[in-house]
Amino acid sequence: MAGHAYTSLAPLQKRRYQWHIFILITLGVLLLSVQHRHSLSALLTLDTLGMRRYCDNDQIGTGTWVPEPVDGHTWARLKVSAGYTCHDHRHALMCFTNEPSELPRLTAANGWRWQPRDCQLRPFDSAALLRRLGRNARQGKKGSGVLFVGDSLQLQQSQSFECMMGAHIEEGFLTDYEVGNFSLEDGAGQVGFVRTDYLVQPETWSLMMPDEPEPADIGRFVRKWTHMVEDKEFVVVNTGAHWGNHSPLTMDRYNKMIQEIISFIDSYPHITLIVRSSVPGHTNCSQYDAPLTHDDPAMHNSYNWQTFDLLNDVWRQTLAQHPKHIFLDVAATSLRGDGHRMPDKDCLHYCLPGPVDWWNHLLYHVIMGRRG
Ligand SMILES: *[C@@H]1O[C@H](CO)[C@@H](O)[C@H](O)[C@H]1NC(C)=O
Ligand SMILES: *[C@@H]1O[C@H](CO)[C@@H](O)[C@H](O)[C@H]1NC(C)=O
Repeated sequence: MAGHAYTSLAPLQKRRYQWHIFILITLGVLLLSVQHRHSLSALLTLDTLGMRRYCDNDQIGTGTWVPEPVDGHTWARLKVSAGYTCHDHRHALMCFTNEPSELPRLTAANGWRWQPRDCQLRPFDSAALLRRLGRNARQGKKGSGVLFVGDSLQLQQSQSFECMMGAHIEEGFLTDYEVGNFSLEDGAGQVGFVRTDYLVQPETWSLMMPDEPEPADIGRFVRKWTHMVEDKEFVVVNTGAHWGNHSPLTMDRYNKMIQEIISFIDSYPHITLIVRSSVPGHTNCSQYDAPLTHDDPAMHNSYNWQTFDLLNDVWRQTLAQHPKHIFLDVAATSLRGDGHRMPDKDCLHYCLPGPVDWWNHLLYHVIMGRRG
């Protein structure tokens, strides 16, 4: 009897009555979903089912990191529990090391999930993303796959993306070189990366066009990328860390760069531009072993990190006038003083797997929520 103490509090009659109501509601929902298959996903996002709505793109930057421990007993197990299915031999996976002493730190840094304040993220599903990226090809339309363009942090995002999509790679892999690509299964297109720290050429501060020949003596990390966009559906860019101070001259050039990129991308109606925000590093990052709960500019007071907000604001405001394109707000990682690549030598980049994976969780959210 003791085992039934909880349920026996309700009279038998009432419990039967509740049971009937439950069956009726379930049948109703099933009927609805059969008749309106397309509204099922909308239905499931409603508060009525006790869930919170999916976030709008401008809601994903505010929230908290909640603990969600992973298995990090070995490097291999950590990789699996982080959802990585890429090759083991890349140093990107190991924080430039496979020292067993680094494993606890990396395991801790992977044991957190980003929870926006008033809404839900779409949970990352690599098979669903594969289907989404192959949709245009199935419908005979132009544009598939993703091109990542930017600096070394953008390389980290593309490497993380490769590992999260690893189960669906048909051929190729990204290297640490300046230009790389791999193809996805099922006609979902290519995923490419181009290393170019300013997106424009830092001599002229303008974009190198697809038909312009790349000079033989081109500087490192300022590669041409415009010739690689045409077959893509999504072009994901970031630039910020290399721009230095925020003098009027710098801000003018930054603005001009933004205008040039938007009008270039707009010459391809099938392409959506996604601009990832820049995330500042954390001064003396060895002091952090868990995410922060509040952001404080004083934590980002090294190098030019405090200008990143300003650069992000220019993009955010400009893209508000171009609703076809997307500002990908990854401010969540401003709270991630933990998990950096080499505390206290490198407090800007992160270990992979690690906080950068969340840039791709958020990328997934905005791509899957894209209308049209
Ligand atoms: C990489 O890109 C080039 C140029 O678009 C293409 O010819 C090649 O097939 C691609 N490689 C893979 C593995 O997709
Ligand atoms: C970083 O460390 C230096 C040296 O210990 C100290 O003076 C400084 O206040 C620290 N800054 C932050 C933001 O933690």
